[in-house]
Amino acid sequence: MAVIPFSQALRERTWTSHGDSEGASFMKDLMSGEGTREDYIALVAQHFFMYEALESAAGKFASDPVAAAFISPQLTRMPALVADLEFLLGPDWRTKISALPSTQRYVDRINEVAAQNWAGGFIAHHYTRYMGDLSGGQAIGRLMQRHFGFETNGVGFYLFDQIASPKQFKETYRDQLDAVEWSDEERERVIDEVIVAYRFNTEVFIDLTAAKAAA
Ligand code: HEM
Repeated sequence: MAVIPFSQALRERTWTSHGDSEGASFMKDLMSGEGTREDYIALVAQHFFMYEALESAAGKFASDPVAAAFISPQLTRMPALVADLEFLLGPDWRTKISALPSTQRYVDRINEVAAQNWAGGFIAHHYTRYMGDLSGGQAIGRLMQRHFGFETNGVGFYLFDQIASPKQFKETYRDQLDAVEWSDEERERVIDEVIVAYRFNTEVFIDLTAAKAAA
């Protein structure tokens, strides 16, 4: 039996969970143009809390022998998120946003993985967000520009100005995933954590829909 590369196994084994995230009605509405500018801003706000946790964990893993290969300043999203929120909500943006319960659970999990010094877990969360941002995220960014008339202000999160070719970047990322000398058992744990990460993302979309209905 041919051995398939880990990056391929990871993708295949998590693609159903990806479909759950992609299929959430909040996302579908935003992409189709049925979602409002307020919906979009609510999503940007949740991204702020997610990336605050993820990128503070990245700081912690910067000298980890396994995780360091995945951490790249070209990916860093916090400055873009801060600029987007300033543009969308004004100078006092920070007082206007808060983490939804599902976002807080997601953040807690990222912090927990970091506290455990678990490189595989950190990479699982890193992969789920950044590979997504460089994939479907690119189409989402263009749709938000079209629906809401953004040029670059407000959608900086989706614009990786230091990555010339997302396709090439993702190929290198997959090569790096394949190069890590994880045991089969550890690979299983990483795949399971990506499924967990997808679930958090889906729950945030569900929470965003509920918050919208309650407003
Ligand atoms: C409307 C929402 C979404 C759309 C339309 C979408 C679309 C896509 C597409 C077309 C790909 C394949 C790109 C390629 O092979 O180069 C992809 C990959 C990916 N997406 Fe999404 N996506 C969405 C939401 C999400 C969400 C919410 C996440 C998680 C936060 C996510 C994470 C990923 C990841 C990690 C990959 C890379 C899989 C791999 O090749 O290993 N996506 N997405």
